[in-house]
Amino acid sequence: MKEVNLTVSAASGVEAVTKRELKRLGFAEPKAERGLMTVAGTVYDVARLNVFLRTADRVYFDVGSFQARTFDELFDGVKNVPWEEFCKKDTFVLVNGKSLKSRLFALSACQKIIKKAIAERLCKKFNLRALPESGEKLAVVFDIFCDTVHLRIDTTGTGLHKRGYRDLVGVAPIRENLAAAMILLSDYRYEKPFCDPFCGSGTLAVEAALFALSVAPGLQRNFAFENFSFLPENALLLARQEAKDKEERGRTVEIFASDIDGEAVSLARRHARRARVADKIRFEVKDVRDLALPLKNGTIVTNPPYGDRVLTERGAREIYKALGAAYRKLDNWSLFAITEDTAFEKAFGKKADKNRKLYNSDKECKFYEYFGKRENHNGRKNSD
Ligand SMILES: C[S@@+](CC[C@H](N)C(=O)[O-])C[C@H]1O[C@@H](n2cnc3c(N)ncnc32)[C@H](O)[C@@H]1O
Repeated sequence: MKEVNLTVSAASGVEAVTKRELKRLGFAEPKAERGLMTVAGTVYDVARLNVFLRTADRVYFDVGSFQARTFDELFDGVKNVPWEEFCKKDTFVLVNGKSLKSRLFALSACQKIIKKAIAERLCKKFNLRALPESGEKLAVVFDIFCDTVHLRIDTTGTGLHKRGYRDLVGVAPIRENLAAAMILLSDYRYEKPFCDPFCGSGTLAVEAALFALSVAPGLQRNFAFENFSFLPENALLLARQEAKDKEERGRTVEIFASDIDGEAVSLARRHARRARVADKIRFEVKDVRDLALPLKNGTIVTNPPYGDRVLTERGAREIYKALGAAYRKLDNWSLFAITEDTAFEKAFGKKADKNRKLYNSDKECKFYEYFGKRENHNGRKNSD
């Protein structure tokens, strides 16, 4: 089968876990640059990547790259791409992109030129005077970096963070793919207990359950590529079948999720039901001050409240202090918390073993990592 290049994008700070996911899916060492990872695969991998990746933002189909320092070079380079292989007569091509460290930096001019070059090629190939643009949408994304133009087709559509289970919005929900990245960065594996004591709309608990049961995150949603005539019709069906075969829904897991707000807990339950993991999570309305977990050697991954208009900075730090006190009473648990508040460790009462930069809705945050005793961690992760 013909080899194609596919590029996966992920948020800053998350690339290392996305790379690990790609390797587990059988791709050779991906090249990573500026949050983009390119792998060689087949047309069927478009569906596999979209269905299986937990931490990525989007999957692109690479259609060409070339050097361009002038608009003429850009036009010619775009026109050389065999767009008729990717488009039908009535395809509606949308063009978007970015440019960095390059002579061509006027984005709207680049956008117009690319669209014009594609239209010219398609009109000639299909013997048309103008494109009707009445059919399927095809999003072409350009990425100009150091005078090299990369052209890609977005195969994902709505970003991969939208799994489909979260239909109502809670207070400051975290993106599903960031929640998954936090879990993959932690020492959680399905044999261990898991807890999110600030569960809000349930994202971290649901993502932990999906991970623990090896349920693919993209099983319940649709993708832009489903309408693409250049991809095999059965690609999604096969990827979904592979995902179903890999599921381990019979596993016994211990996942606890609580929040002080009863409405948030109801919402979390609703989302867990929609993700078909409600029977795997023990929900409770509970103040973190009363957090007591009966099991040992577990992992807390959480997104505590942050001081804003609703909760003062001082109020948030009181909560971090309570979290620290509750954590110290637990029997050999690890704790991983994301927050924008740079005073977290001080309020929590302990310096983290490690921290790393992550972005939550474009806001720079720290991910604080506290490890339970190391001898209990063999570093093994779930097999997906
Ligand atoms: C940033 S939100 C968590 C959002 C969640 N990760 C999601 O995806 O929906 C913080 C949550 O902490 C909860 N909270 C605030 N004070 C609390 C306390 N003392 N004990 C437990 N939960 C608390 C809030 O009700 C809110 O749902």
